[in-house]
Amino acid sequence: MISTIKTELKSWVESMADHFKPEKTYWCDGSQEEYDTLCQLMVDKGTFIKLNPKKRPNSFACFSDPSDVARVEDKTFICSRRKEDAGPTNNWMSPSDMKTILDDLTKGSMKGRTMYVIPFCMGPLGSPLSRYGVQITDSEYVVVNMRIMTRMGNQAIPYIDENFVKCIHTLGAPLADGQEDVKWPCNPNVKYISHFPEEKLIISYGSGYGGNALLGKKCFALRIASTMGREEGWLAEHMLIMGVESPQNEKSYVAAAFPSACGKTNFAMMVPPEELEGWKITTVGDDIAWIHKGKDGKLHAINPEAGYFGVAPGTNYNTNPSAMESIKENTIFTNVAITKDGDVWWEGMTKEVPDGLTDWHGKPYDKNSGKPAAHANSRFTAPAYQNPVIDPEWDNPEGVPITAFIFGGRRSTAVPLVYQAFNWNFGVYMAATMGSEMTAAAFGEIGKVRRDPFAMLPFMGYHMGDYFNHWLQFGRDLENAPRIFGVNWFRKDKEGNFIWPGFGDNMRVLKWIIGRCKGKISAVECPIGWRPRYKDMDWNGLESFTRDDFNNIMIIETEPWKAEMLGHSELFEKAYDKIPKEFLFMRELLLSALWRSPEKIGLAPERH
Ligand code: GTP
Ligand code: SPV
Ligand code: MN
Repeated sequence: MISTIKTELKSWVESMADHFKPEKTYWCDGSQEEYDTLCQLMVDKGTFIKLNPKKRPNSFACFSDPSDVARVEDKTFICSRRKEDAGPTNNWMSPSDMKTILDDLTKGSMKGRTMYVIPFCMGPLGSPLSRYGVQITDSEYVVVNMRIMTRMGNQAIPYIDENFVKCIHTLGAPLADGQEDVKWPCNPNVKYISHFPEEKLIISYGSGYGGNALLGKKCFALRIASTMGREEGWLAEHMLIMGVESPQNEKSYVAAAFPSACGKTNFAMMVPPEELEGWKITTVGDDIAWIHKGKDGKLHAINPEAGYFGVAPGTNYNTNPSAMESIKENTIFTNVAITKDGDVWWEGMTKEVPDGLTDWHGKPYDKNSGKPAAHANSRFTAPAYQNPVIDPEWDNPEGVPITAFIFGGRRSTAVPLVYQAFNWNFGVYMAATMGSEMTAAAFGEIGKVRRDPFAMLPFMGYHMGDYFNHWLQFGRDLENAPRIFGVNWFRKDKEGNFIWPGFGDNMRVLKWIIGRCKGKISAVECPIGWRPRYKDMDWNGLESFTRDDFNNIMIIETEPWKAEMLGHSELFEKAYDKIPKEFLFMRELLLSALWRSPEKIGLAPERH
């Protein structure tokens, strides 16, 4: 097989081995046999726990080091040559400074380990929209996760040319002669997730977890790909892609951006309520979308991934039955709890906490500890083809045509359930100024609202202002640009309970959205866009959700919105040199509309 590998790739790999000094180099072929062997190796080392094959066939659980449970945004760098190219929202270091630091840290950092070479494809194999990479890693956990998340191994090799993205990963935990390994090797103190967009190069040091280590995902498919997309005229987005079929068998596709742990996987696999008969949802992707302009004048999106690295807590047969089906077998669980009969458990899987759990620290779980048994950012890795509602076109090399974009954050206050932007420019403005409460998916202050433009704040490979302009420009010459919507499933009442039932009932919102795109459903104007009236939405089967509840979740209060607008200007000041002129005028327009509005908008009685 090696004979088919191009000389440049081979010599690059050799130079890597020279530098990292692993015990041996291994080229991954991507076979089931290889996967099984590596899983067994990890069982033997104590990293993996084989789950009860009767309950969870061919599945494993593992617990990470407590220092290594989420993305490390403060250690994530965009190392463009010029600081202005990374922009005000990214950590920046010059390529040479970062390489000096990393060179030192990584010299010999694979000692005593195997260096794995993973050729992989992001997107359907051979698609003109797909891109290729090769990851070097000293982590078996990474290899088996990459096998689920990407098309990897021999199948990718024929497509790899000199443009492949170089993805270098090391745990930063070399083993001295005879030193025994730990169950979750990493560097508990030093981590660097660094990107060199001009060289299409990623170097990740010190972490073995998720987006820090599976470099095809956030590092390549978002940070590096966003810079490729800017140069080549496409978009790399933190978006799910879903198919929506109406009772009249009309099929549409929508793409939706929500920040990490804010509901993409759930929305992408949603099972609509029975009462909304005939509506069907199918999944193209749950986390990342690459969006191109098609020859037909429409936007076409592919999912560059091949699996789901999904949030475990909160997932159950009511909230997300399709995810539960997807993780029945052939799944890797990270930082969940283990039941006494060798299955998995997490907060929200069942109401009752089972007895005899092992928590994510690998210790017997004390129900009265007040601490969760599974880590809040615990995850499952499952192959996409196990999803019972996978879209038949999910692997189509041409992608699927997009009818609507949806943007949503986690907001306990201020932001209504759903609204439609007046036009493309206002939609881009809405997405750019989106705020969301922070979650456990990254190290940070959980619950604090931060601006997360396009849900891309942690995933941008270049200047945020240039990105806004790229989006504005992208829509300018589209004949039939997708309509743009804002949603918020997370508004709370005074007692702190979610007002909106969410999950499958989000279909009601989506039905209105599709109706708007097809010009079939009416709406009324409000200061921030178009919104549904109570009578514009389908309440069949949710009669318990009253008109008052609807008003409470749709209301736009002037005071919180003025505060919201201050948040917008803070963002604009940060990126002043590159903020599109349009944004400044749109902000003025929104402000004047809010100023002239009654204190509470959306409470007026409706005529029928
Ligand atoms: P990443 O993989 O981190 O990018 O996240 P994601 O956007 O795919 O998030 P996911 O769908 O996994 O949801 C994260 C959390 O939000 C889970 O705990 C869900 O139970 C919860 N969640 C998802 N949808 C809803 C909803 O409609 N309402 C409420 N209240 N919670 C939701
Ligand atoms: C996210 O945090 O948005 C994820 C998980 O999708 S990770 O790949 O770990 O970044
Ligand atoms: Mn994500």
